[in-house]
Formats: sequence, C-alpha cells, structure tokens
Amino acid sequence: HAPLRVALVGLGTVGGGVIRLLQTNGDLIARRAGCPIQVVAISARDRNKDRGVDLSPYEWVDDMTTLAARDDIDVVVELIGGADGPALTLARQCLAAGKPFVTANKAMLAHHGLDLAALAEKAGIALKYEAAVAGGIPVIKGMREGAAANEISRVYGILNGTCNYILTTMEKEGRGFDEVLKEAQELGYAEADPSFDIDGVDAAHKLTILASLAFGTELDFDHVAVTGIRHVIAADIAEAAVLGYRIRLVGMAENGPDGLFQRVHPMLVPTDHPLAHVDGSLNAVVVEGNFVGRLFFEGRGAGEGPTASAVVADLIDVARDEYGDAFAMPVAALAPQKTADAGHR
Ligand code: NDP
Ligand code: HSE
Repeated sequence: HAPLRVALVGLGTVGGGVIRLLQTNGDLIARRAGCPIQVVAISARDRNKDRGVDLSPYEWVDDMTTLAARDDIDVVVELIGGADGPALTLARQCLAAGKPFVTANKAMLAHHGLDLAALAEKAGIALKYEAAVAGGIPVIKGMREGAAANEISRVYGILNGTCNYILTTMEKEGRGFDEVLKEAQELGYAEADPSFDIDGVDAAHKLTILASLAFGTELDFDHVAVTGIRHVIAADIAEAAVLGYRIRLVGMAENGPDGLFQRVHPMLVPTDHPLAHVDGSLNAVVVEGNFVGRLFFEGRGAGEGPTASAVVADLIDVARDEYGDAFAMPVAALAPQKTADAGHR
C-alpha cells in the first residue's frame, strides 16, 4: 500500500520521540498499519537545533501554514503546544482543508475542542488526540471504544506526571519541591510553562476532555475547580502518612442531578487505594461504567517514549482509516453544559 505521508510540526520532547519511534519500529508499524508511515515534512522554530536524531531524510518547512494545502501530505501532527497561537491556526487550517490532524495538545482541545471536532466532522476526517490525556495510556481509546456501551457515573485519576513525580519523590526521598520540579523538567515531563502542571491547569485540561467523553457533554473547562500542588510541603506529606494517607493530585468528574461536577485538587488517598501506589511519572484513570464495572488504566503519563507511542497509535488509526467522532459522538449530540457547583476556584 502507498505510505501514509506525515508532516510533523514540533520537534521537542514528543516530536523527537515520534521520529525516533518511527525510525526504530517502522517495519512493525507498517505491518500493523497496512502501509509504511513516512514522515515527509518537519517544522519547528529553530532549524539548526541539534535534536539528537537524524533529520536529514525529511524536508524542513519554514512556514507551517503551507502544509494544509499540500497534496503530498496525508496527515499533519501538531506537537507544538499552547491553547491558541500557531497550534490552533494550524489545526483550523488543516481541518478546514480536509487534512486529518493528530495532536497531543490538551490545552488547545480543552478550549477549542468542540470547534475543531465540528470542522473534522464537516470534512469527514480524523481529529485524533490519544497523547493529550495520560501520555502513553490508551485511555481515549479505552473510553471511546472499550467503554462506549456504558453509562459512566464517574471518571477520576492522577492526570499529571510532573505533579505525581514531585509528590512521590518528595514522599520517598524527602527532597524539596523546587529541586524535584527541575528534575521533572529535565526528564521532559513538564509543560513549557510548568505552572500549568503545578497549578493543576494541565490536569484540568485533561479532565475536561475525559468528562466530555464519559458523559457525552460539551467540553467545559471554565467550570473545573482547580487547586494545584504549589503549596504542598514535606510536612503535609509526612502528616498524611501518619494518618494512613498519601497525597496525590486527583482530577474527578461526576455527572449528577445538579449537573457536571469537575474538580482537580490534592487529595488524601488511603494507602490501601490503588491510586496511592501510582508513583513517579505514572498516571492512572479510573472509569466506572454501569455494565463494565470499574476500569483502571495505569501507565506512564508523560515523557518522550510513552507520549510518542500514543501519537503513533493515532497515526496507525489514520492509516487504517479507523476513526470516529472526536468526542465519541457528533458535536450536535453532545449535551449542553450544565455545571454543578464544584466549590471554590
Ligand atoms: P517541547 O517544548 O519539548 O517542544 C515543542 C516544540 O514545538 C519544539 O520543537 C519547538 O521548536 C516547537 N515550537 C514551539 N513554538 C513554535 C512555534 N511558534 N512555531 C513552530 N514551532 C514551535 O514540548 P513537548 O514536546 O513536551 O510537548 C508538545 C505537545 O505535547 C504539547 O502540547 C504538550 O502539552 C503535549 N504533551 C507533552 C507531553 C510530555 O510528556 N512532554 C505528554 C503529553 C502531551 P524548537 O524546538 O525549535 O524550539
Ligand atoms: N506536563 C504533562 C504532565 C505532560 O506532566 O503530565 C503529559 O501530558
């Protein structure tokens, strides 16, 4: 079969990982996808940066706005980040031009996901974003496909690898917040602006997406009540341990009679609860469905390898022509937002 021709925009932690993954597992992926997945064009800010990977086979594109109109590109992958700005412009251009689009950008989806999904739906093309929530864990596929037959009562979990790495490293090694945050940044877990991680905003972006998938409601980022971990100190962790708890940043969404309840905040998790054993950059997502019961997804939620794995899984779906509505049903079928009071903001 003819290769799936990819334009890759953003060559940082995740973009570099996608190149490395395709270079390493290309043959296996071609067998699974039914055709080779071939990067044709690449783009980022700095053409001369050493990215530790051979980029010579690929065409460098200075102006990413030219990609949407190119007939020799089948799909565009956006790994720049940011809710607005060049990522959003690129997404809109590509989807409006009928170009399938893969992204890891949860900030953009939480704020503009419905508009982008509507563009994809109109064009009858894929908008895929497995990497946007919980890194390498196939939780979007799990919810869109595996749990699709269920009425879901609650979805919750540990949705930020940076925060989990900080909290669990402070807990186990007694090290200070700032030092461990710096390490998380060096490991490629943190957002370009790490305040999105430690203030809980990144987890709120992900929860917004999960809540829409779980309850068939419109994305509603503005009503997530968010408290991050910036003020958690070693003494909090030690005192929680004395009482039989661990501190984890948990996102939780429930759809009750009063509407959608969405919160992200540090929680005391009993040591015998599975979430208390989710350590380091791991994430975990719990989904409660009326027929399937409780699903527990766990895996590495941040970093190059796991995130690239999720991006390439989406590319394989595009190659197989296997995709559905971005948020599991047509945009018009999503219920309007009805928000329960989730407490302080
Ligand atoms: P990085 O900061 O490592 O990489 C960002 C890339 O985008 C860089 O190559 C940068 O170019 C390029 N870029 C930034 N601004 C522009 C611009 N204006 N025009 C063109 N290129 C630009 O980010 P990550 O790889 O960590 O993250 C990418 C996306 O994936 C984000 O949406 C993030 O939220 C998401 N994500 C990240 C995960 C992770 O663990 N890191 C996990 C899941 C999702 P240059 O290199 O030249 O500066
Ligand atoms: N900064 C994010 C995290 C990356 O730490 O979880 C994965 O989405």
